[in-house]
Formats: sequence, structure tokens, C-alpha cells
Amino acid sequence: MNAQPAPRRRDAVLALVGNTPLVPLYFEAERLTVYVKCEIVNPSGSIKDRFAKCVLLDAEARGVLRPDSIIVECSSGNTGIALAMMGTALGYPVKILMSASASAERRQLIRQLGAELVLFESAGSYQTGIDMSRAMAAQDPRIFLPRQFENPLNAEDHEHFTGQEILRQLPGPIDAFVTGYGTGGTLAGCGKAIKRRWPAARIVAMEPAGRGSLAGECPCCHAIEGVADGFVPALMRDVPLDGRIKVSGGDAMAMTRRLHREFGLLVGTSSGANLIAALQLARELGPRATVVTMLCDRAERYFSTPLFDSPEK
Ligand SMILES: Cc1ncc(COP(=O)(O)O)c(C=O)c1O
Repeated sequence: MNAQPAPRRRDAVLALVGNTPLVPLYFEAERLTVYVKCEIVNPSGSIKDRFAKCVLLDAEARGVLRPDSIIVECSSGNTGIALAMMGTALGYPVKILMSASASAERRQLIRQLGAELVLFESAGSYQTGIDMSRAMAAQDPRIFLPRQFENPLNAEDHEHFTGQEILRQLPGPIDAFVTGYGTGGTLAGCGKAIKRRWPAARIVAMEPAGRGSLAGECPCCHAIEGVADGFVPALMRDVPLDGRIKVSGGDAMAMTRRLHREFGLLVGTSSGANLIAALQLARELGPRATVVTMLCDRAERYFSTPLFDSPEK
């Protein structure tokens, strides 16, 4: 009998990332259907598992990530959780720099996965954390920085995987793709893949309303955590954007609670915001239009936020 090689401990988590379902949601009151890519089924619960997987495997393949490496990243939450999970599965220590304003659940999840958390003052801009991580790397050659905001792999992975999955899952024409952006990786990568296949598709950015554009501000400092408001991330500069839809934090939360209670989909606030933008596009483009958006992360990292203070409970 041939002895089977022992499974590597990394394989369990790696196998669970990506190839997420795309499902139609019919909104009865609006009489409209939109398609949602369910990134909530990734193993750490968000779309960021894809970046964590691709950046660490790529760094290993290039010999940049070595047995004594330490992974350090500034993250408003989901990327930190994803890197903590993936670093643990792959066998590297992880240190996450995070604004003190990020929700307590995110911090707990990162610590639970065995990573170290370094909090910086919420008054400090997101750039504070990025500068801290660069300074640490300059002093310690073992530090590997995934650099989600600048790393082209972030958008390329979405172009080659997430975007292609959507095209396979929806063989007919896509009329619009809309989602919020933090680094811009999802919008840029999926947007490019969809536009190349369906040039008439509208690629639209969802942005939080009611607050000015504060370049460099932490993308988690408003009601729609994980999403930026108006500054153009480097990864999105070459994406032909066809429009922007502003969504208020209150509307995003109301729609997110609707997703919880009407559909049983326990998602975070940005998913509700994405759905508002997607329904607006479906209304504009007509009932036959195919509009696609993302369910970016799960609800359990928002227990301590106003999303769970709903008066009608
Ligand atoms: C919670 C959350 N994480 C991640 C993203 C996407 O981020 P990125 O632009 O970095 O791909 C979004 C976008 O809506 C989001 O809401």
C-alpha cells in the first residue's frame, strides 16, 4: 500500500479561499433582482482572504518570505484578520498595525489567530500606520510588508480570479458592476475583467456620503467600515470608472439590517451600502439589466457598532 503524504497544515485554509458563490437576490418591494458575489464564505469571513493568500504565496515563490520572516501590515481590520489567519496557516508570525477606532471584534479576532496587534491613535491618519510599518521594515530585514494599498498583485488577483469567476458564473452580458473601495483592488481588478468581456458594462464606485474627501484618512473612520470616501487609491488610477454612487451611513445600516432579516444574510455594513447602489443602478437600467455587487464581509465583526443597535429589534 502506498503511504499517502501527510497533508500540509496550510492546505485546509488555502483550499477555502475564493471560488465563492454568486447568487441572485430578489427584492420584493422594489421588484428588482441584483447578483451578489458572496465573499462572506471565505474562511476568515471577508474578501481580503484572497489578497492574503495571493500576496503570501507569491512572496514565498519569489523567496522573499523566508522561514524567519515576520509579516507586518497596517490594516483597518479585514486585511489584518485575513493576514493573521493566512500567516498562521503558513507558519509565519504576523504583526498588525491598526487604528484604535477599529471595532473591538476585529482586534479580538486578530489576537485569537495568534497575531500581535499594535494600536495607533485614531486621531492619527491611516498614513500614520503605513509610515510606522515602513519604519519597522527599515530597521528589521526579517519584516515582509504585503502593502495592500500599493501592491499591484491586489488588483491583478481580482482580475484573474474574482473577476473571471463572476464571468463564468454569469455567462450573459453584465450591465453594471458596483462596489465600494478601500485599496481599490476589488473594483480595479473585477472592473477590468468585466469591462474587457462586456465593454458596455458600467463600472461604478460606491462611496460613503455625508463626509468630505479626506485624503489619507483611515478608511474605517465613518459608518461604512472598510470603504474609502473620495480619495483615489493608487490601484484604481487606470480603471475606467463610469460613475460614483454616494450612500449615507444610515441608509447603509438600514439595508444591511434588511439583508439580515429579509434574506438571512449576516453581512457587514458595506454590503448593505453596495446593495443600495446596486438597486439604484438596477432601477436606472431597467428590470432586465444584470447588476453585480459584492458581499464583502460578515456581520459578527460589527457587534459593538451601531449596526447592532437597531431600535426595531
Ligand atoms: C469591508 C470591506 N472590505 C473590503 C472591501 C474592498 O476593498 P478593496 O477596495 O481594498 O478591494 C470593501 C469594499 O467595499 C469592504 O467594504
